[in-house]
This record gives sequence, C-alpha cells and structure tokens, in this order.
Amino acid sequence: MGNDFVTSPEISQMFGECISIFFITLMKKLNVSNFCELGPGNGTLANDIIRSISKLTESEINFYLYEKSNFFDHKKIIKKKKIKVQKLEKIKMIQKPHFFICNEFFDALPINQIKKINGELFEKRIKVGGGKFISTYEKLSSKENSDTKCLSDNQILEISPLMNLYLKRIFRHIKAFGGGILIFDYGPLKKKKIDTLQAIHKKKKCEVLDFPFKSDITYHIDFEKISELSNEFGLKNYGPIHQKKFLYFYGINERLNLLLNSASSAGLKNKLYEQFIRLTDPKGMGELIKCMFICNKNLNIRAFNN
Ligand SMILES: C[S@@+](CC[C@H](N)C(=O)[O-])C[C@H]1O[C@@H](n2cnc3c(N)ncnc32)[C@H](O)[C@@H]1O
Repeated sequence: MGNDFVTSPEISQMFGECISIFFITLMKKLNVSNFCELGPGNGTLANDIIRSISKLTESEINFYLYEKSNFFDHKKIIKKKKIKVQKLEKIKMIQKPHFFICNEFFDALPINQIKKINGELFEKRIKVGGGKFISTYEKLSSKENSDTKCLSDNQILEISPLMNLYLKRIFRHIKAFGGGILIFDYGPLKKKKIDTLQAIHKKKKCEVLDFPFKSDITYHIDFEKISELSNEFGLKNYGPIHQKKFLYFYGINERLNLLLNSASSAGLKNKLYEQFIRLTDPKGMGELIKCMFICNKNLNIRAFNN
C-alpha cells in the first residue's frame, strides 16, 4: 500500500491519548494487562498508547503488534520499563484477557464484490488484458445465501472473508478469556449495497486499478455485520458511534487545552487546533469514521449510550 491516506494517529497524539483513557477506565474492571494492535503501520498509535498508559498505570503490560508489512520495524516502538513489546507472526494469543485495537485495519483488507444482475449472481474478478489490469464480472455457480438473497438487481455485496476470519479468532478469544476489541474504521451506520472501493494516488482520487500496488485502496466496512458476528459468539457490542463522540468523551477538548497552554508559539497553537478539527470534523474523520467496542460483559459505557 502507499501512504496517501493519513490516519488519525498520524494527525495527532491526542487520538492515542483518548484511547488510552478509555482503556485505563476499563483495565481494572476487565482485569486486562495485555494489549494487541492489529495493523500498527508505522507504530504511531502503539507509541502514543504506550507513552500515555505508562504514565497512567503502574501495572506490568504486554503489548503485542500484529503487522504483515515488511516496512514495520518493532524496534521503533518506544521502550518503557513495565511494558514489554513483542511482534506477533500469528494472531495466537496467550490465554489471558487482551484489549485488541484496530485503527483502519479492516478497511485495508481484501474484499469480494458480488453483484446481482437480472436475478443472477456475478463476482468481480481482476484480469490482465493488453498489459494492464482490468475488472470484469463473472457469473457465479454458487447458490444464493442469506446475504445475497437480500440483494436487488444491480446491488453489490462487499464481503471480506479475511476480516471475518480475524474477527472470529478474536471473538473466540474474548469469549473464552475476556478483554475486548476497540475498532475505528470508515463505514456508515448502515452499509449501502453499492461499490465503496476507492483509491488515492499522490493525494488524488483515482480508479482502483489505475496505479496497481502504488495507490492506497479502501472500502466501507460493515459494522452491522461485525455486530451480528459478535452476537453469534454471545458477546456484547457497544456502538458504532462517531469518532468525534468517542474523542469528546475521552477528553480531547481537555487535552487540546493543556497542549495549547504549553505551546510555545502561535504557529504551534494553530497546528494543534487544526489537528483537533481534522480528528473531530463532522464532515470528515469526526463522523465518517465510526468506533465500536466489543467484549463479553454487560458494561455501562456512557460514551456508547444513545
Ligand atoms: C490503513 S493502515 C493503518 C495503519 C495504522 N493502524 C494507523 O492507524 O496509522 C493498515 C495497516 O494494516 C496492515 N495490514 C493489512 N493487511 C494486513 C494483514 N492481513 N495482516 C496484518 N496487517 C495487515 C497494513 O500493512 C497497514 O500497516
């Protein structure tokens, strides 16, 4: 993948600081001292969480990172006395409660697109033709299932088998050992049955196949599907809520004010304010990104109440 989409932790440390407050409020209640970030990218969020949590608790913590990119270097993760950082090759966790954290992880996973045309099912496939990649819809021989039955003509179903696989593994762990998973990702409250795949190359929108292996590709994840899957494991799900609401609740305003008070120049103050706006703007990340928490306990988490 490229680096055209800027993620929340890359915008400001305030994002990871608010997440740390959330975890701190639940750590004792859920008896968690193990963390696992999926798809940490360049490790910014992990570093912000480790830095904040080490200030807020005396507990010994294990922080696991699961990342497939060869560019990821876990040695760049900051060292703190009571926090042991380890890279995971597989999502195979020790038998203890964990907090899993995924920021824009699921929207980076591959998806299948299935379209209903004249009552029949077709799947989008990518082929090489005339020296370039082209997409075509090919007829599926498989029968309708509960997901495809709901499709009307020309509607598109987007499913990520890999997301389901990862979630099932994590949900099984949460069901057996406790803890929870906190997810931030692009997606509506109710996913539409349309093509949501999109690409950005050199900061400009482009077609998904215009710059193979060079553009950043994403799609809208289906939060309803995640809830349904968590229900199958008997777990409790909270949200999705807007990123903005989560950040307000876990102190982004207060953190901004503290940072503004200690900022040494008007330029730095403006920069901090711009970062705050980018994370919370209802027209941008503030509402386009949703946040969901799933665990095996009934909790009263006010941020997630209606
Ligand atoms: C959009 S980036 C988000 C990075 C980071 N979480 C952030 O907020 O800045 C998605 C990350 O997931 C990683 N990733 C994608 N597919 C993966 C997979 N199957 N297993 C592990 N990591 C994966 C990518 O390498 C990338 O670092």
